[in-house]
Amino acid sequence: MPGDKSISHRALIIGSLAVGNTKISGLLESEDVMATVSALRKLGVNISRDTNNCWLVSGVGVGGFKEPSEILDLGNAGTAARLLMGAISGCPITAFLTGDSSLCSRPMARVTEPLMLMGAEMFPRSKNYLPLGIRGQIIPMPIEYDLKVPSAQVKSALLLCGLSSPGKVIIHESIQSRDHTERMLKQFGNDITTELDSKTGASKITLTGQTELVAANINVPGDFSSAAFLIAAALMIPDSEVTIKNVGVNRLRVGLLDTLLEMGAKISLFPKKNENAEPVADISVCYSKLSGILVPADRSPLMIDEYPILAVIASMAKGKTEMRGLGELRLKESDRISATTELLRSSGVRVEEHEDGLTVHGSNNPIKGGTIIPTHLDHRIGMAAIVLGLSSKSGVTIDDISPISTSFPGFVELMQKLGADIYSAQE
Ligand code: S3P
Repeated sequence: MPGDKSISHRALIIGSLAVGNTKISGLLESEDVMATVSALRKLGVNISRDTNNCWLVSGVGVGGFKEPSEILDLGNAGTAARLLMGAISGCPITAFLTGDSSLCSRPMARVTEPLMLMGAEMFPRSKNYLPLGIRGQIIPMPIEYDLKVPSAQVKSALLLCGLSSPGKVIIHESIQSRDHTERMLKQFGNDITTELDSKTGASKITLTGQTELVAANINVPGDFSSAAFLIAAALMIPDSEVTIKNVGVNRLRVGLLDTLLEMGAKISLFPKKNENAEPVADISVCYSKLSGILVPADRSPLMIDEYPILAVIASMAKGKTEMRGLGELRLKESDRISATTELLRSSGVRVEEHEDGLTVHGSNNPIKGGTIIPTHLDHRIGMAAIVLGLSSKSGVTIDDISPISTSFPGFVELMQKLGADIYSAQE
């Protein structure tokens, strides 16, 4: 599997704020992650790739970014934009950020508002959206903050800014979101702690600012969110059997596995020994007859990126699968509730769209297909459409596969190697 996108962005950004040289192996070399590399270079960080495909980051220390002379263009990368907004807010510089049309239509107030409480000044062209200018603070205020949305991106932005604060930054989450930033900050020597309320699932994260980060060696595990598309194809296509090696299986990322097991999937995990801050496993999957279920709404932060592909899987299961608590899905690279509804409906699947979710009525049989699918600049819609096409009677045509390289370069070629019939519609 290509490296985990969330962990790759964090390794580059946290490595940049450390003292010393951080070595990263397994970095995801996708467009989103390269947007982070390019922005960090403009912020004065020396980043190079050696002959063993490892990336070397010469950290500038907490608060040490230099003022960029150029605009930072984050392309399609929401994680890069939001995490860098936090890191820049803790430096005494002014920077301007922009992105592609998808990123410029995604809400930023969730990040800018708490960062302003810490002292950053924000100059959005239009309230809530990129492009925007940021003037960071040499000494941001340490704050105690209740996250308004269950977002690891917002949490991480505040923690990265808090690294420069003279005191403790405390964040409360009502439902725990992915904790890659916390794990990695610990690996770089910060004494960050998380207190989990096992009854409510809420968590309290405490970070002490103005302590140095010490460079580390990071091995980025394979991306579970990318593996999800292979898992789906293996489950849906008769006689398939696939083993996916070295996949990150952080419990706050793998809600899809619990869901698929409840649906009757034949999936086995083989945990690997490793010295990473993140658990890793090989995952074996076989074609399985699945049944629809009600997916618990409180599982959504643990599988937020996997709903489009779950909806595709559910379309071939027996009975209905109901997914709720997905309001955040409307604010991703595209409105994924409506894009997924469009993908399924146009392929002959019965699906109900709700404000906060989807109900998919599984056919227990291959679906019709035969349509042209718009990807809406969304890599996960593109990959979900390809998997749907493979398991449909007439196949599908996808209008634009280029967004897939934001997270999974080589996806089409890998699927072709596994036997998928994918070809250019121009041929
Ligand atoms: C991510 C967090 C999630 C996820 C995104 C990556 C991260 O977004 O959807 O693909 O790396 O922190 P939110 O934090 O906005 O839920």
